[in-house]
Amino acid sequence: MALRAAGRLLPPLLLLLLPLAASAALSGYFGTKCRYEEVNPHLVQDPLSLGPAAAAARAPAACAPLQLRALLRHGTRYPTAKQIRCLGELHGRLRRAAASCPAAAALAAWHMWYEESFDGQLAPRGQRDMEHLARRLAARFPALFAARRRLALASSSKHRCLQSGAAFRRGLGPPLPRDDGEMEIEVNDSLMRFFEHCQKFVALVEENKTATHQVDAFKKGPEMRRVLEKVASVLCLPADELNADLIQVAFLTCSYELAIKNMTSPWCSLFNEEDAKVLEYLNDLKQYWKRGYGYDINSRSSCNLFQDIFQQLDKAVEESKSSKPISSPVIVQIGHAETLQPLLALMGFFKDDEPLRANNYVKQTHRKFRSGRIVPYAANLVFVLYHCDQVKTSKEEYQVQMLLNEKLLPFHHSNKTISVYADLKDYYKDILQNCHFKEECELPKNNNTATDEL
Ligand SMILES: *[C@@H]1O[C@H](CO)[C@@H](O)[C@H](O)[C@H]1NC(C)=O
Ligand SMILES: *[C@@H]1O[C@H](CO)[C@@H](O)[C@H](O)[C@H]1NC(C)=O
Ligand SMILES: *[C@@H]1O[C@H](CO)[C@@H](O)[C@H](O)[C@H]1NC(C)=O
Ligand SMILES: *[C@@H]1O[C@H](CO)[C@@H](O)[C@H](O)[C@H]1NC(C)=O
Ligand SMILES: *[C@@H]1O[C@H](CO)[C@@H](O)[C@H](O)[C@H]1NC(C)=O
Repeated sequence: MALRAAGRLLPPLLLLLLPLAASAALSGYFGTKCRYEEVNPHLVQDPLSLGPAAAAARAPAACAPLQLRALLRHGTRYPTAKQIRCLGELHGRLRRAAASCPAAAALAAWHMWYEESFDGQLAPRGQRDMEHLARRLAARFPALFAARRRLALASSSKHRCLQSGAAFRRGLGPPLPRDDGEMEIEVNDSLMRFFEHCQKFVALVEENKTATHQVDAFKKGPEMRRVLEKVASVLCLPADELNADLIQVAFLTCSYELAIKNMTSPWCSLFNEEDAKVLEYLNDLKQYWKRGYGYDINSRSSCNLFQDIFQQLDKAVEESKSSKPISSPVIVQIGHAETLQPLLALMGFFKDDEPLRANNYVKQTHRKFRSGRIVPYAANLVFVLYHCDQVKTSKEEYQVQMLLNEKLLPFHHSNKTISVYADLKDYYKDILQNCHFKEECELPKNNNTATDEL
């Protein structure tokens, strides 16, 4: 609020002198580029603390955990090569404008240290995200993680995910004496990058420019126009020399400098909190239409992963019933925001009454679908299967909890934070029985021109 006032009252140069306040006010609006600390602020002080929600997340009474399945997004990463190129272009433009414009000069003086070869790789900060996450999970579920030899690690083939897997493993400490060698990381793109294996998704959404027309419309809409004109005026540029993509790159750079270097960069000074909300909405719109509820195929393409989770849970239940050791007590799989978001949509989480559209920005102020809260860097969705003592609870033997970013996630069918396993399966029985990746993802066989156009 203070900053919004500042934006109105102070001339551009003074605005650039408020960087600390700026980053604090903006950091919650970076969408998928949010730091994990935004959803768990206590970690800023103590990255190993289980935080205020830990007590509530303790094992339910008379229950012992049997299996933990964690789906992780990789940790903090560098910008992609495309973003770095775009930033280089913007930076060059500002250097040319610098002579006659103090605000542009301040940004031109910023050191452009990103190289294209950084292309989306895990940043050192991202390794720490993963090591700390591993240590916190192990502290919360000591019995499960004690059997580290039986930890199954899988990852998407992307470098940042493999590196995240290695960092997670390091976080668990040196190998146990009886470990036979390193814990292998299995690459499994059909589970972690299902979206690119789903032909129908690729054709209808990924490679279809009109699929994101709401995003394009918002880029040209009044909210973005206001931000663009403001930034152009601060930088002494004609508005038509900037576009929504360049504005987004400036905002992204602010987010990257904070996430990667823990630094408030001068790029943040271009934006106040109102601007940040608009840019957050732009990011959420894209996630919504490409990964969320926008199109059914977005979530349906994740049904293999969904079913795999329940198959492993079933297997653990069977093993427990026949008093066998659980063959996979801990399964950790590392993918992307694009892996988690569709799965959460398939399960019905964070669905707003109305779709996110270019023309309902104000109406969506209090939306559930906020990527920064759902899939920041190092986001994690954890399923925990418990075996519970029937005598004490007089309930079913097997129960489940879900944690999103280390906080209990109330189930969609009950709004409770624990569910009888059988009830959960019953609630999702249609997906479990009728969602088949091959059929869902097949392109219509009829001769339409869709395939030709691509
Ligand atoms: C990936 O995981 C699925 C489900 O567990 C499995 O069927 C498949 O064989 C795995 N693929 C690879 C390449 O390991
Ligand atoms: C692209 O998306 C639009 C909007 O959803 C849709 O009408 C069209 O059929 C899609 N095109 C292809 C080739 O799938
Ligand atoms: C990041 O910066 C803040 C404020 O300067 C500081 O308190 C914090 O310890 C830093 N965190 C890390 C991980 O360096
Ligand atoms: C779910 O439970 C929470 C806390 O108990 C409550 O605040 C919320 O209103 C409930 N939501 C629904 C949809 O019932
Ligand atoms: C496929 O569609 C095109 C145009 O829609 C048509 O000219 C062509 O004959 C069709 N081919 C077949 C095999 O049906």
